[in-house]
Amino acid sequence: MKKIAYINDKINRYNQKIYVPGDKSLSIRFVLIASQAIGKSIAFNLLKSEDVINALNAIKKLGINYKLKKNFCEINGKGLNGFKFKNNTIINAGNSGTLARLIFGLLINSKNSIVLKGDQSLSKRDFKRIILPMQKFGQNIFSRNHKLPIKIKGTEFPVPISYIESKGSAQVKSSILLAAMKTDGITSIKSIPSRDHTEKLYKYLKLPIRIKKEKKFELISLKGKKNFKGFNYKIPGDISSSSFFIVLTLLSKKSKLLIKNVNVSKSRTGVIDILKRMNAKIYLKNKKKYKGESIADIFVKSSSNFKAINCPTKMNSRSIDEFLLIFLVCALAKGISTFKKIGELRNKETDRLKFANNFLNKIGVKTKIKYDSLKIYGNPDLKLNKIYEIKNFDKDHRACMVSIIAALTLGGRWIIHDLKSINTSFPNFILLLKKLGAKIN
Ligand code: S3P
Repeated sequence: MKKIAYINDKINRYNQKIYVPGDKSLSIRFVLIASQAIGKSIAFNLLKSEDVINALNAIKKLGINYKLKKNFCEINGKGLNGFKFKNNTIINAGNSGTLARLIFGLLINSKNSIVLKGDQSLSKRDFKRIILPMQKFGQNIFSRNHKLPIKIKGTEFPVPISYIESKGSAQVKSSILLAAMKTDGITSIKSIPSRDHTEKLYKYLKLPIRIKKEKKFELISLKGKKNFKGFNYKIPGDISSSSFFIVLTLLSKKSKLLIKNVNVSKSRTGVIDILKRMNAKIYLKNKKKYKGESIADIFVKSSSNFKAINCPTKMNSRSIDEFLLIFLVCALAKGISTFKKIGELRNKETDRLKFANNFLNKIGVKTKIKYDSLKIYGNPDLKLNKIYEIKNFDKDHRACMVSIIAALTLGGRWIIHDLKSINTSFPNFILLLKKLGAKIN
């Protein structure tokens, strides 16, 4: 893949059907949970991106074998106590926050030490949110400023915990659920709702998990030490990857797109709900259920007359990875859009709130930013005719991809750096855009 994209033309009209790659959250969870099963598990349509390959490399270092073929991935789990590795084994999570956070849970009872590392971007991110609950379980953690590299050593007898998860972070909730699997007793989590793939997989595997929904929180409890057998899973398309194509189509002229077989579970579809409220023509077709997840084809049509939105905060965790795209649509909407309590965006691969603010200003859109909120003064007549260079975004794949979508829909001449960042989540992104007719040099 080239390092820099040069884009000088808007994309022409298209009417096509595409598939996006497998869901990243589900792919990483499949790898980690299958490593704890007894026997062979097989995933079809596993995402083959750097983050998922790093998850496979991680379980391999912990003594679990896998085969990655063109059409499937096989993992040979050895049960809840099956890891075998030498003292001070190094695991490199690369750019993946999800892998780095979730693996703490699996190492809760490790006899030997692990040194967990990551790339430059991941090494800037905060791990306090994971360290606190893991220490409650009894894990020994050695870190400087709660940042990677971190040394982890498990405890022979992890204790079940009660924990309040108030950030709406699925990574924190899931790492607790992975650790809880290995304790003797019941762990309970009071959590702001967030993506619930781990819970759904546990239910499918018949692990003793209970979930009670309250007004603002969910109460989750899990009884540990239940072994489970290997399983098969067909991973649906990723809504986060689909969203780049949804917004591309919305902002292009006279275009239509059908995105087949996407995971549209409620915890992930804030982006669709928000954009629909803004006037976007997005429709779900062929809805079905698969192992607790909701799946559908997404049909999108070019749209116009976008209305500004005062985004309800309960949408935040349901659209956490799609805000950059939503902000782009707000830039063209009539009126002032407002987003509150979105400080979590500052803790992603890059500070996405700062990135979004600079980006919008660069393309001539007025904003007001505070520590955890953003106001966007939309301009339906926005026309771009300058040269726009996008760089220094800490290897944030989504910052790179949203810039490419802006370049293909808003006009102007664009130079977008660090295309390689896209490999963390969506290796065939550029190829798929070219299939729709995009001119990218
Ligand atoms: C993820 C959870 C989210 C999301 C990330 C993937 C997951 O992070 O931003 O891309 O798979 O659990 P937080 O849990 O930190 O919000």
